[in-house]
Amino acid sequence: MSGDVILEMKKARRTFGGLVAVNDVDMQIQRGSIHAIIGPNGAGKTTFFNGITGIIPVVSGSILFEGTEIQQTATHTICRLGIARTFQNIRLFPYLSVLDNVKIGTHSLYSGFVLAALLRSPKYRREEREITEFCMSLLEKIGLADKADLYARNLPYGDQRKLEIVRALASKPKMLLLDEPAAGMNNTETAGLERFIRSLKDEAYTIAIIEHDMKLVMSIADVISVLDHGEKIAEGTAGEIQNNQRVIEAYLGKQGAA
Ligand SMILES: Nc1ncnc2c1ncn2[C@@H]1O[C@H](COP(=O)(O)OP(=O)(O)O)[C@@H](O)[C@H]1O
Ligand SMILES: [Mg+2]
Repeated sequence: MSGDVILEMKKARRTFGGLVAVNDVDMQIQRGSIHAIIGPNGAGKTTFFNGITGIIPVVSGSILFEGTEIQQTATHTICRLGIARTFQNIRLFPYLSVLDNVKIGTHSLYSGFVLAALLRSPKYRREEREITEFCMSLLEKIGLADKADLYARNLPYGDQRKLEIVRALASKPKMLLLDEPAAGMNNTETAGLERFIRSLKDEAYTIAIIEHDMKLVMSIADVISVLDHGEKIAEGTAGEIQNNQRVIEAYLGKQGAA
């Protein structure tokens, strides 16, 4: 291992029947970095995130998070170790308030909370107050505090995506996995998202981001890994990736076929 690696994958593999969605991928993600994962549709990017978070475990290979093997670890344990994610398709609770959606993200932090809540103990009331303050501070950071009482479904699309990120942050992760956070955002929303992601990096979060908006990727990523047909075909800085022949072919080939 070189530098301060927070997540290290060795030969991570996921198959679905005869399809090899993630093909023996090696990857190291540096602590505190913004690491982008790009590639054409169907390249295996989301499957890669599903493997890290244990939602669809890898079939073989190793995934070390801060030196701990998590390859066969349950999703909620992985969350507690400090990995949180957002989904490519928005998964909010539409008929809960914005604030309650964020509060749900804190559940991994508070064990025994349900019992305490039923008993309405002083401990519960204190924690309830702390959780509300913490969640409101997160909403303030992303500029959604004034919408805390709205139903999530009534937020504009860009705000719903931001709310997903805030909910992921509510578990106090060390590492955040964002799956196409800018999808469907207009330019102004994307610019706001970029500022927010930068601010998270300033706060020492590690961020892995799958994204199709190349302008965003090239401007914020410290490292870019490129997947194509489940294989990592290139890795490097924005400058290196932009001039990489295999990467150009992977994208042009797809465009030509479309
Ligand atoms: N749960 C699943 N069951 C079967 N096939 C899947 C599943 N998830 C993903 N795949 C397949 O794996 C490949 C990679 O998909 P995915 O990881 O979603 O790609 P990307 O996020 O890069 O667009 C695709 O061919 C997709 O159809
Ligand atoms: Mg995907």
